[in-house]
Amino acid sequence: MADRKPLMAGNWKMHKTVDEAVDAARNLADRVSGASGVEIMIAPPFTALAPMADALQNTRIGLGGQNLFWEDEGAYTGEVSGPMLKSAGCRYVIIGHSERRQYFGETDETVNKRLKSAIRHGLIPVLCVGETESEREAEKTFSVLDKQVGDGLKGFVADELKTLVLAYEPVWAIGTGKTATADQAQEAHKYLRALIEKKFGKDLAESLRILYGGSVKPGNAAELMGMPDLDGALVGGASLEAASFSEIVLYDQNP
Ligand code: PGA
Repeated sequence: MADRKPLMAGNWKMHKTVDEAVDAARNLADRVSGASGVEIMIAPPFTALAPMADALQNTRIGLGGQNLFWEDEGAYTGEVSGPMLKSAGCRYVIIGHSERRQYFGETDETVNKRLKSAIRHGLIPVLCVGETESEREAEKTFSVLDKQVGDGLKGFVADELKTLVLAYEPVWAIGTGKTATADQAQEAHKYLRALIEKKFGKDLAESLRILYGGSVKPGNAAELMGMPDLDGALVGGASLEAASFSEIVLYDQNP
């Protein structure tokens, strides 16, 4: 099995002013300074990126944008581009989060354009996919994943996707406290890996990191991370406090 370094990612969504973000980042950096063998990312609001990049120099924490627009610059009021994220200190960018799809009309087609831009600019994309509760109840989980992955990754070849990270985030588990069971998560992750293998070959499928997201907490991180196809977590609510996120990052170092 390929050696996949877990990625523990925090998505702060629309939380924290600049001062709050810098404080939380410093606190987190102290707590995880000994974490080896995992990669750590925080995606704060855009306004906090540059000051956090300063605060996090020489720490183990990398920064991510929560989204990006596909053009590099132009008359697109309110948007932020790949080169802007890079210059603010980002290594990663989240793409296609379900809240973007649900509230801001993003589609697999726009996800595809964003992904192309992220890769062109050397940002590590964290592409979010996942079904809603009614889709799961109607047994459409796999067909939803087929479409999100198929259309989201349309036009790419395996070589371009070497840095891609997928995040399986069942919409019904996001911010609801209703975590997918470890078995449900593993089933979806295994399916996604097989899908990538079918489309892009075994090498990419084996090296691809697939994160789980949806009500990950200190109390369930170790069980989820124990599943063979889970290579990290994308954490919303529990990433806001340095204490709880550091416990998740250090999931295998707690007694
Ligand atoms: P949650 O959010 O951990 O608060 O459920 C996860 C996410 O939206 O990435």
